[in-house]
Amino acid sequence: MVDSSLPKTGSMQHRVCVAPMMDCTDRHCRYFHRLLSSGVGLYTEMVTAHAIVHGDSQHLLGFAQVEHPVALQLGGSDPDLLYKAAAIVRDGHPYDELNLNVGCPSDRVQSGRFGACLMAEPERVADCVRALRESWGGAVTVKCRIGIDDLDSYEFLSNFCATVAAAGCGLFVVHARKAILSGLSPKQNRSIPPLRYEVVHQLKRDFPELTVVINGGLDSVAVASEQLDHVDGVMLGRKAYADPCLLADLDRELLGGAAMPGVDRAAVVREMASYAVGQLALGARLHQITRHMHGLYAGRPGAARWRRFLSEFAGRRDAGPEVLLRSLEIFDAAA
Ligand SMILES: Cc1cc2nc3c(=O)[nH]c(=O)nc-3n(C[C@H](O)[C@H](O)[C@H](O)COP(=O)(O)O)c2cc1C
Repeated sequence: MVDSSLPKTGSMQHRVCVAPMMDCTDRHCRYFHRLLSSGVGLYTEMVTAHAIVHGDSQHLLGFAQVEHPVALQLGGSDPDLLYKAAAIVRDGHPYDELNLNVGCPSDRVQSGRFGACLMAEPERVADCVRALRESWGGAVTVKCRIGIDDLDSYEFLSNFCATVAAAGCGLFVVHARKAILSGLSPKQNRSIPPLRYEVVHQLKRDFPELTVVINGGLDSVAVASEQLDHVDGVMLGRKAYADPCLLADLDRELLGGAAMPGVDRAAVVREMASYAVGQLALGARLHQITRHMHGLYAGRPGAARWRRFLSEFAGRRDAGPEVLLRSLEIFDAAA
């Protein structure tokens, strides 16, 4: 039996958050996003329990204090392995939440029996949640789809959530489209199955005690704000990555953040140059940091030129923070 006094949602902020995205939301990206919003909840890329237990956990789990509130997303389906991974996380990596990935449809993930295919095994997911909570002691949440393949009825979803909630999961992030596990690539699975927001709204109505965060296709403050009439939180992925200044707007409009008239993009670039000094000394390459920043000037005159400059010069072997500072001159000249 899991101790019922353990927290179910923790200190993470879920009203607005940025989705976990492999190869995108690494620590450099999260640092950058945090400069644009002090309030949105941030998620790591998925890290497998196997990699934490058998790999370089310091490298995989390290993050900066300024990233808080930040959740670690885990991939796995073996409760014992997840238990061990969570113990490693607990000892030295103070994330605000552990989130289990039950929504990712990639082949690689299916062969390890985790991700979206686990929705067919709610009892196993419940065992994983119990193991994580016992080991870690903090809030454990689940990110899932509204269904998989022909397991796509509302009853299926509600039974899944009820079973997993009984294990102590108090929060579900629900990507409002089902996953089709054979025949579609992960990318196609993020656009071809139709979005069915009403299913997620129904879930919140039927489980008012759960925190329900909706995800999928949200691309503006207005759209996100409308969703908050039905659910507790919104999670944005691709749009937030492509146009990160949206995070500042969301912070201001939906989280009551500091009423900035607009983002000072040049100040963000200068801050990232300072950040790069420390990270380069630790062995990072400039491109690993700047690649997340390409959307900073999205939609502004001079954006394409700025992005081209950054791509070309930050990729050079000896590139240093001066490339970022020089990019400001390029932008001013182009704009
Ligand atoms: C490049 C990329 C990588 C992703 N990696 C993950 C992941 O590691 N874990 C996960 O749960 N979802 C992952 N997703 C799915 C997103 O978290 C999100 O559910 C999906 O993109 C739908 O939200 P959006 O329409 O706001 O982008 C990924 C999405 C993208 C585009």
